[in-house]
Amino acid sequence: MTDTTTTSDRIDLTDQERDAELDLHQLKQLVGLVEYDESTDPFPVTGWDAIVFVVGNATMAAHYYQSAWGMELVAYAGPENGTKDHKAFVLRSGSIRFVVKGAVSPDSPLVEHHARHGDGVVDIALEVPDVDVCVEQARSAGATILQEPVELTDDFGTVRMAAIATYGETRHSLVQRVVDGTTYAGPYLPGFQEAQSTFVKRDGAPKRLFQALDHIVGNVELGKMEEWVGFYNKVMGFTNMAEFIGDDIATDYSALMSKVVANGNHRVKFPLNEPAVAKKKSQIDEYLEFYGGPGAQHLALATNDILRTVDELRREGVEFLATPDAYYEDPELRSRIGEVRVPIEELQRRGILVDRDEDGYLLQIFTRPLGDRPTVFFEIIERHGSLGFGKGNFKALFESIEREQDKRGNL
Ligand SMILES: [Fe+2]
Repeated sequence: MTDTTTTSDRIDLTDQERDAELDLHQLKQLVGLVEYDESTDPFPVTGWDAIVFVVGNATMAAHYYQSAWGMELVAYAGPENGTKDHKAFVLRSGSIRFVVKGAVSPDSPLVEHHARHGDGVVDIALEVPDVDVCVEQARSAGATILQEPVELTDDFGTVRMAAIATYGETRHSLVQRVVDGTTYAGPYLPGFQEAQSTFVKRDGAPKRLFQALDHIVGNVELGKMEEWVGFYNKVMGFTNMAEFIGDDIATDYSALMSKVVANGNHRVKFPLNEPAVAKKKSQIDEYLEFYGGPGAQHLALATNDILRTVDELRREGVEFLATPDAYYEDPELRSRIGEVRVPIEELQRRGILVDRDEDGYLLQIFTRPLGDRPTVFFEIIERHGSLGFGKGNFKALFESIEREQDKRGNL
């Protein structure tokens, strides 16, 4: 388990990627992975470790992510195997791991967290080659250390972990899975057991609906975006990618500012949004109000066949934001996007958006909010060379979000 097959000078596949049978070429296409020299990075990050959600009912959420999103249940911790106050289900799709946690005991700290924020992302856990190096760098750059490095051990081996605070009540756990040359061999972390799911996929269902996680957007308060960009620059050595300000993403009613930071190999990308002053309440303001502060807004799931993914998700009842026909009939859009791999009509039928930049194009679509509050949602993204985030679609997307905001009486 300790081999690190070098497939290029500077990028290794992660164990999660190897297990998911992904190769380097696919990952460059799917998530824009780039080569970089880790030896000069003050805070080396290998990639995502897991995205941890706190939800009102983890038992039902675990079923939803299997039945609607085609994820595979791989591990479990709960009262049956030593975790008294909550249940945690670990789900996988390709190289992504989601963990959904829900309180069992009324005294669990998750109860209060859920009361404040509703369903949402509590931990964007990152895999790192050396937890201690990261924590020392974070400390010297002034970050809040929520958990000092600690070793967790069970029959499958040892994991070294720490955690630092990011925006709102969100944290980055830092997970080192290779300790003293030995890779942890358990299904997730010490305390978790392999799960035997009773869920059976329908005949003909694809193996998975998405292969990797592309980016997670964070919404922060007015005037705080630069501060958080600075946090990722100074504390974690992330570099700035694209930048969108002002008119780029303003509609008649709402506006926001956004900047994107990424780790060295670009597996981990964080667009950070703040509301901008406009005629009416920004969608970011709506998020901040209903989440009760800053938090993760959307997770972009990478697929190599967005048409199939969207069709399968719709069949399971997943709802997407509507895109008006006018979007597809706009001659300016048609000339801007040029040739894409399928006829525009196929995209229009599904409401899939297209954007193109100097490097290529991307196809994307956004779900409606996942839970009861108008907060966290998913994006499905299929990249063809473009390393952007759909800047050309922001206006169409925001107008669509505003129509929904209006229906909720929050515009
Ligand atoms: Fe996005």
